[in-house]
Amino acid sequence: MKKVILAYSGGLDTSCIIRWLKDKGYEVICFMADLGQGLGQGENLEAIESRALAAGASKVYIKDLQDEFVEEFVLPALAANAVYEGKYLLATALGRPLIAKYLVQIAHKEKATAIAHGCTGKGNDQVRIEVAAGILDASLEIIAPVRSWEFKSREEEIEYAKTHSIPIDVTKKKPYSIDRNIWGISIEAGVLEDLTQEPPEDAYMITKSPTAQASYPKYIEVYFEKGVPKKIDGKTCKLKSLISHLNEVGGFYGVGRSDMLENRLVGIKSREIYEAPAATILHIAHKELEALVLDRELAHFKDIISLKYAELVYNGLWFSPLKEALDAFVKSTQKHVTGSIRLKLFKGNCLAVGRKSTHSLYKKELSTYGKEDKFDQKLAEGFIKIWGMPYRR
Ligand code: ARG
Repeated sequence: MKKVILAYSGGLDTSCIIRWLKDKGYEVICFMADLGQGLGQGENLEAIESRALAAGASKVYIKDLQDEFVEEFVLPALAANAVYEGKYLLATALGRPLIAKYLVQIAHKEKATAIAHGCTGKGNDQVRIEVAAGILDASLEIIAPVRSWEFKSREEEIEYAKTHSIPIDVTKKKPYSIDRNIWGISIEAGVLEDLTQEPPEDAYMITKSPTAQASYPKYIEVYFEKGVPKKIDGKTCKLKSLISHLNEVGGFYGVGRSDMLENRLVGIKSREIYEAPAATILHIAHKELEALVLDRELAHFKDIISLKYAELVYNGLWFSPLKEALDAFVKSTQKHVTGSIRLKLFKGNCLAVGRKSTHSLYKKELSTYGKEDKFDQKLAEGFIKIWGMPYRR
């Protein structure tokens, strides 16, 4: 019997996919990646596993990949200041290549010839998973049932699940389509499809309403070493807990929300809202530290790289040669990105209000308007003449 490794989420779609693939003659092995989506919060892992087995899976892998996710995927993107179309910090996009990597790895281990996922044919995630998997092993068959199966609605899927005794939880019909991991939450569909409407409060999961917050700000200090966040308020913490902590604190102050109309790779414009408190805080802090320690040429050139980097991540090219080459560039830019940034969280805002670094390029004796001024203003005259010379007629 042909074996397939299915990226399993525990939800209705992928539960139906198990049975659907079985009926097509596959032995189905499920793989579920824990990227910090809150597994075990609503229902425990055993419940998820037994659902997959009851739906017909022969085996279920559940792997906690949070550390690998933050170290190998989130960190490089943070170092690169990768932000898609000015707003999206790429939480979902960064998770997909990691899922693809494990689908391929488990396929090899289990001697499976195919991998499958539950992405729709309209989104970016199908592209990310399939392109990544294809780069890692071009020989694997890829099956995306949702693109081609017979079900036209959620109701039909529920019917299918009932007839085949697939244990699903249909009580909590979610009004949104949600993808979550430790780096952020992506929320779409439902009322969000009306572009004229402000997202309702109930669409947000981990950030409190900025207006609901206390009338005092919160200050925090983030310390980076070579571009890697290491300490919060002087206390060293592991990256995963540092991020979780910032999600909590930032979320409480309403930091990290965005409401975005984005360009998907497949050509569709879509409205999505994001919550990413930790990612927002760390991006702001990291960029601020770079402003202090990178020279102008490097900083400006790096901004161009950031745009391209974000595009590659968004478009599913994580394992591409260009992305690897850009990583090498970004890494070399981080050697002096060590220091602390103090931030003020207040009513949905996150502002950098203090910075220090032993690699600081700021020279007070040059910038000051006070009497310690060491800048020889007479030199400016010649500089301006030469600078403007090409444009004089
Ligand atoms: N638009 C985001 C992206 O392409 C998130 C996609 C998943 N979103 C969701 N709500 N299921 O990365």
